[in-house]
Order: sequence, then C-alpha cells, then structure tokens
Amino acid sequence: MVDNSTQRYFNDKVVWITGASSGIGRALCLALRSSGAWLIVSARQRQALEEIRAEYGENKVHVVVLDQASPESVKQASAQALAWKGRVDVLFNNGGISQRSEAVDTDESVVRRIMEVNFFANIQLTAAVLPGMIERGSGHVVVTSSLMGKWGFYLRSAYGASKHALHGYYDSLRMEVESQGIQVTILTPGFIATDISRNALSGDGKPTGEMDQNQAGGMPVELCADKILQGVARGARELPIGGKELNGLWVKRFFPKLFERILRRQQAT
Ligand SMILES: NC(=O)c1ccc[n+]([C@@H]2O[C@H](COP(=O)([O-])OP(=O)(O)OC[C@H]3O[C@@H](n4cnc5c(N)ncnc54)[C@H](OP(=O)(O)O)[C@@H]3O)[C@@H](O)[C@H]2O)c1
Repeated sequence: MVDNSTQRYFNDKVVWITGASSGIGRALCLALRSSGAWLIVSARQRQALEEIRAEYGENKVHVVVLDQASPESVKQASAQALAWKGRVDVLFNNGGISQRSEAVDTDESVVRRIMEVNFFANIQLTAAVLPGMIERGSGHVVVTSSLMGKWGFYLRSAYGASKHALHGYYDSLRMEVESQGIQVTILTPGFIATDISRNALSGDGKPTGEMDQNQAGGMPVELCADKILQGVARGARELPIGGKELNGLWVKRFFPKLFERILRRQQAT
C-alpha cells in the first residue's frame, strides 16, 4: 500500500508499465490501484494483462501487447500507447529477460536477444515518449536495471552487459534532459521473489524453468513495488532495492578487492 504523497505523485498521471504481466511490473500495477493513475500495461501475454485490467478497473487501464524482441512491435506499441490519452507522463521501462549460462556456452543469438529485449527495446520506448515529455516540460522515465548493472557475476555475462548499458545511456540522458523538467530514475534491484530465474535463458535460448534459491528467498515483490513507487515519487536518481545483497554497493566502492573475494564465494543461482 503506497503512502499519501506517493499517491498524490501518481494521481491522474498516465503511467506506462512494461513487463506488466508478471513479477515486479504486475506488482507495480496493483500497488497503483488506489493512486488515481491511468495505466498502460504491456508485455507479450495478453491474458495476464487483461487480468490486471479487470483487477485495476477496466476504464483506467489500456492493454498494449508488446514484444520487446521486435523493433516493429515496439514501434506499433508506442503508437498505440501514445494514442490512448495523447501522452505518457511516467514510463516504467521494466520488461526484461535474464540469463543462466556461461559466456563460453552462450549462443551469439541469445546475447543479441538479451540486448534487444533489455537494452534496444528499452531505449526505443524511451525515444518514443521523450519528445512529448520535452514539449510539456515534464515527465519521468524509470528504468529497471539490476545490481548486475553494477558488477559482473557468474552465468550472467550478456544480462550484466545489457544492464550496464542502461546505466551509461540513462545517466547521460538525465544530464541532457533534467533541465527540461524530465526525471530519470534507475532502479537496481537485488534479489526479488519473482519468476525471473525460471524465465531466464540458457545458452541455447530455452528458459531454464528453474527457480534460484536466491530468488525464492528474495524480497517479496509487493514490498519491492511499494519501495519503487515511493522512491520514484520522491525523485530518486538511482534506487537500490533488496536485502543484504545491497551491502555489495558500498563494499565494492570502498574495498574492491575484498568485494571480489566475497563475490567469488557466492553461489551462482
Ligand atoms: N527479480 C529480480 O530479482 C530482479 C533483480 C534485478 C532486476 N530485475 C529486473 O526486473 C525486471 C522485471 O523482472 P521480474 O523479476 O519481474 O521477472 P519476470 O516475472 O520474469 O517478469 C519479466 C517481465 O518482462 C516481460 N518480458 C520478457 N520478455 C519480453 C519480451 N520479449 N517482450 C515484452 N516483454 C517481455 C515478461 O512478460 P511476457 O512474458 O508476458 O512478455 C514479464 O512481464 C526485469 O527487467 C529484470 O531484469 C529483476
């Protein structure tokens, strides 16, 4: 349940959430129920999006099916999203796919797919909503990166690369557009209890179908969604969310060699 100032921030805004069919994106949608926001929900699974629409309130939600692996689908979805209310005030660029395979075993097509879904589609969506935001002198782009956007780890070479790329892009974008009233928030979740590891790609491109222990024991997704919405409403530039794994941020910064030793001892899944 989000607090009053968070509700006020989102009230009457048009909020586009990608990756809305499950996990963090779905929880963000449901947490916004009492906020007065108009929602555009996107992902590939239409049925799951329709269920959110039914739960949230049918006339307040617009379903836009989107395949982030296809630039053409991203283009069409952007046009549909903008046509609904004529604007997008807040874009949650949240849809994404992970990886569980060593670099040496990962087919190049899998690397390209992960970059397409997590990076290229993400910035294509931002490019679609940005001109309108600049014209109105307000808007907020929120990007779900990861702690894997802050350091590398076993089995996640392409995933980590895609998330690191988001930081380079959005830190630069923020510098260019903040004076025009546009905010950019980069989320860096740690372990959140969703199906991300089940949906993660193996080296041959097939989903692993396996739940990681780290994920299963991660932060409940509802709590994660509340923290994200509160951080976004207060204008956070970068927002870590998770449990003790977040300590890695300051250990890496101040004790990089110690950090590497600790990291090497962690289990990969
Ligand atoms: N859970 C964690 O611990 C964690 C940690 C750090 C970062 N993250 C990031 O959080 C975001 C959400 O992940 P999650 O944990 O909520 O996992 P999830 O439950 O697997 O959700 C992933 C979402 O992305 C969508 N998606 C995947 N491939 C897509 C494609 N080709 N086109 C359009 N949508 C696609 C999925 O929808 P469809 O299948 O319906 O298309 C789904 O809604 C991701 O960017 C992930 O990298 C998660």
